[in-house]
Amino acid sequence: MLHNKTVLLGVGSGPLTWVGVEVLRALQRAGARVRVLLSRDTEAFVPALTFQTLAGEQVITASDVYGTVVGEHVCPLAQVVQDSDALLMVPATPALLAKTAAACGDEALVRAVLLHRGPVVLAFPGQALEYQHPLVRQNLQRLREAGVVLYDQGIRETATAVDELGWVLSPQALVEAVAGCMQDTTSLAGKAVLITAGPTQEPIDPVRHISNRSSGKTGFALAAVARRRGARVILVTGPTHLEAPDGVHCIRIQTALEMRQAVLAHFDDVNAVIKTAAVADFRPQVSAEGKIKKEAAVLNIPLERNPDILAELGQKKGRQILVGFAAETQDLLNNARQKVQSKHLDFIVVNDVSDPRIGFASDDNRVRILDATGQVEELPMMSKTALAEHILDRVEALLGQQEGR
Ligand code: PMT
Repeated sequence: MLHNKTVLLGVGSGPLTWVGVEVLRALQRAGARVRVLLSRDTEAFVPALTFQTLAGEQVITASDVYGTVVGEHVCPLAQVVQDSDALLMVPATPALLAKTAAACGDEALVRAVLLHRGPVVLAFPGQALEYQHPLVRQNLQRLREAGVVLYDQGIRETATAVDELGWVLSPQALVEAVAGCMQDTTSLAGKAVLITAGPTQEPIDPVRHISNRSSGKTGFALAAVARRRGARVILVTGPTHLEAPDGVHCIRIQTALEMRQAVLAHFDDVNAVIKTAAVADFRPQVSAEGKIKKEAAVLNIPLERNPDILAELGQKKGRQILVGFAAETQDLLNNARQKVQSKHLDFIVVNDVSDPRIGFASDDNRVRILDATGQVEELPMMSKTALAEHILDRVEALLGQQEGR
């Protein structure tokens, strides 16, 4: 994946410094040459010798702002940076984020970011309490605007004071994200892709609703990858805490009816639609204006059917590529086959949601893809970003066929 690539790995200091070691190994397993830059005080947590031994190269410390001495020669930092394809900082502590956002290059790692002209990825446990502070969020916004890729996935813990220690990072997923950033970014240039994500919420009253466990991760990963490949991306999403990827036109909705309206408004202008959203099939017939009192509540809520948005798109379909998702617990392929036919899909991505480790809200997924000709592709467990790459490869191939390529 990263053969012939050099990655500059900046390691932040703190209780998560050890993550840098795991990421270094994962980068090497993917075939990369890794140059390590240590932040101030990193060595208090993991000795420089550990990184040096694993990398097989001299590490660059915080004070090597202008370069390192190798034997009798000075190796300028600018040279090291120029020779690398990507810069990855992990863990990107709030202090490092602040310095980078302020362009305060008084230590080698931050100066390297300022000198680098390729992709810069900052990885951190975004749900940890300190990352929620408005000052840190402002820095993140500044970095995002400057084109830095922020990677805050893989956090299982809820925010607590010690939550930083509970960061459950998949080094492999992070390496895939870095590899994705180095890819050709123009393969979807000139194309528009509409993606739906997350759940819908169907209100019972102002404080209660019918919904499901979709987190939006799959749809947001697709939006990020499609954008990176140069597409104009419209993301119609139900309620989720995820932040929209840079450059993506994000429309936030609550109900299936609102999703339908937003999707239909853009359908004619796009080349492909990917419907990862878990749309509620039913909504309460009546949504009470005030909170229903416990004592006054009837114990049955009459429901009515929501429109099937994807089926409607299938009816209207012109040249658009239509991709559906199916969340199934039994008879997976037969149910999915029916959906491909009845909704006129080019292909459908089939999740087995009876397995609690995958599908809804997980970071990874294992799916099958069933196309309109009945062919089934079985994919191994992979991150949702890697799955997004795979799905978009297929969409690109179908768009290429349309254009006779
Ligand atoms: O968001 P995550 O936590 O990452 O989880 C991802 C996911 C598990 C939600 C996703 O991978 C997934 O499976 N999404 C589709 C879930 C679903 O609603 O399946 P379905 O079999 O009910 O619907 C089939 C297709 O029709 C879907 O593309 C759906 O968007 C669409 N549909 C369904 C009902 C409806 N009223 N309108 C629709 O457009």
